[in-house]
Amino acid sequence: MPSKDLSHIAPEALDERQAKAELKRLAAEIAAHDKRYYQEDAPTISDAEYDALRQRNAAIEARYPHLVRPDSPSRRVGAAPAAKFAKVHHAVPMLSLDNAFSDADVRDFIGRIRRFLRLPEDEEIVFSAEPKIDGLSISLRYEVGELVTGATRGDGSVGEDVTANLKTLKDIPHRIAGKGVPEICEVRGEVYMSKQAFLALNKRQAETGGQVFANPRNSAAGSLRQKDPLITASRPLGFFAYAWGEMSRMPADTQSGMAHWFRSSGFKTNPLTKMCRSVDELLEFHRKIEAERATLDYDIDGVVYKVDRLDWQRRLGFVSRNPRWAIAHKFPAEKAMTIVKDIEIQVGRTGALTPVAKLEPVTVGGVVVQNATLHNADEIARLGVRIGDTVRIQRAGDVIPQVLGVVEERPRGAHAYRFPTRCPCHLHTEVVRDKTATGEEGAVARCSGEFACPFQAVEHLKHFVSRRAFDIDGLGEKQIELFYQRGWVKEPADIFTLEARNKHIRLQEVEGFGEVSVRNLFAAIAARREIPLERFIYALGIRHVGETTATALARGYGAWAAFHEACRKLAKGDEEAKEEMDALDQIGDTVIESLRDYFSEAHNVRRIERLAAEVRILDAEKPARESPVAGKTVVFTGALEKMTRDEAKAMAERLGAKVAGSVSRKTDYVVAGPGAGSKLDKAREAGVNVLTEEEWFALVGERG
Ligand code: IVH
Repeated sequence: MPSKDLSHIAPEALDERQAKAELKRLAAEIAAHDKRYYQEDAPTISDAEYDALRQRNAAIEARYPHLVRPDSPSRRVGAAPAAKFAKVHHAVPMLSLDNAFSDADVRDFIGRIRRFLRLPEDEEIVFSAEPKIDGLSISLRYEVGELVTGATRGDGSVGEDVTANLKTLKDIPHRIAGKGVPEICEVRGEVYMSKQAFLALNKRQAETGGQVFANPRNSAAGSLRQKDPLITASRPLGFFAYAWGEMSRMPADTQSGMAHWFRSSGFKTNPLTKMCRSVDELLEFHRKIEAERATLDYDIDGVVYKVDRLDWQRRLGFVSRNPRWAIAHKFPAEKAMTIVKDIEIQVGRTGALTPVAKLEPVTVGGVVVQNATLHNADEIARLGVRIGDTVRIQRAGDVIPQVLGVVEERPRGAHAYRFPTRCPCHLHTEVVRDKTATGEEGAVARCSGEFACPFQAVEHLKHFVSRRAFDIDGLGEKQIELFYQRGWVKEPADIFTLEARNKHIRLQEVEGFGEVSVRNLFAAIAARREIPLERFIYALGIRHVGETTATALARGYGAWAAFHEACRKLAKGDEEAKEEMDALDQIGDTVIESLRDYFSEAHNVRRIERLAAEVRILDAEKPARESPVAGKTVVFTGALEKMTRDEAKAMAERLGAKVAGSVSRKTDYVVAGPGAGSKLDKAREAGVNVLTEEEWFALVGERG
């Protein structure tokens, strides 16, 4: 018999038996939300709803202290998952794929490859086309044929050691068989749970009161991150091999050859993989797999196209975190209908006010959706959406659900939403619309309060501690909100003075913390007192300075002092500093203007100085120290004959050089092909080393 719903009874009205049942339910529910929030980045309830659950738990515990459970949420900080795994540094980073959503995107992808490799139109490019499995990627390291480490992807550079759990999968060999196995092999691929196994598992879990998963991907992830390998063993997980990391020797020179080698070594590869020789064949493959999607026993969310020739893959290399030689062609988003219960405003890091539709919960593609973005006031007007309307929504991959349109208006009850003219924060600061380049009113409404606006300040702090920024263990969004509310952390520098101030704060006595977690937190903060320059710049959360830009700036200036000085000069209107920055690869006017604005604000400069005094900012890594052009600035001009301009640029960067767009005092080499014009003249005038393409190849010691 299903247990009675007690969630509407006030804590003080519960009798002891009911309180016990409620604490059990709350422990399970909060743990599930923590997991979605911290480990899957996919919360299904709002922060306020989450806080209400925790408060209810605390209120019941206060009334019945002897009923506090060993697994009570009040004994844990945020997720702090029971299972802690050792960290594994991936020898070769595990990267992700760029997405194509339309046929035109696929044509562009091929066009880019042709241009990059400068292939004539009639030169055939063979692709390996495979389903994109919706599971979780892992890396298996074999040394002298023996499986030594199995790790999750993590953030791409550092994953979690789940070797013992992976060894329970029947699709993962403990030894690689066969003659001439390379000494080091890292086999990568996707762990997944079949749809049938997922449904059966959820049924079992529901019957036994265990955790019920939203979709097969979550259940595969949950099953793999078990502390007890026996639990993993009881969960039917499969594995398809499709990529590799470090290899001491390559057993093949094509993607398909590697797949063949995977199979002969005892792995499974996806049986639907097909070689395609034209864009039409790729698109045909996409259509065919999409039609078969529902009949497959595992979830897929698109197909992946990979250039088959590995020498071409190597030449194409990577841009940011994605290979140029592969793309994921996604299936169209899944859609559903539901009712808009309310519209709320969220204030982001840059002060942008985003209206969010609060929805009647609905399942879209296996995930419960309760919120959807409405972007801005214009979008609300365009859609004509009112509170109470039935709308069509869609979820595309990891993208936040969107409202597509109103399906049915509620004749009565539905009422129009009035976009606020003041920020919902306690300051009620005026909201200002952005201006477009032509001076017209833009779509984005922003709170003008900056750091004085608590929403913006908190979002800034959340960004600061996020995974790709300072990444402080045990300091997630929930803790930041708490610390901010209590006035303990108002700006980044405060994080580093927290321990010294703890005499007065006494964090260990705050609900949800304890001696151990506080000690761990301070250790995690201390561990981040050294930070690579590119992470530091990214963590500042300056508009238009994302990860790629931060890396480009870090490489360009090498050290914090140089970058900081350049920005301060920029803020004072120094033209030379501006030109120098402009000459850096990937840095344009938008970034320069944004940096200038940021460093023109005295309070920003002070915040940064306070922060910089607390940490040691490590100089940017030089990617290839032995390379003769590492750290040099190179300008390519004129027509190149052996490689395309893009390829030349990528190659120089791989070798640690900076590629600039114009010649300046800082230029070390100008590589000039036929037809080089003013840049060559300027180089000669400035006495810069001018090389032919052949001389460049001779210098760097690569093929010519
Ligand atoms: S190739 C350099 N092939 O998709 C990247 N990835 O968005 C090599 N995935 O993290 C990845 N099926 O988890 C590749 N057949 C397939 C895949 C696949 C699923 C996942 C993988 C990756 C993500 C990229």
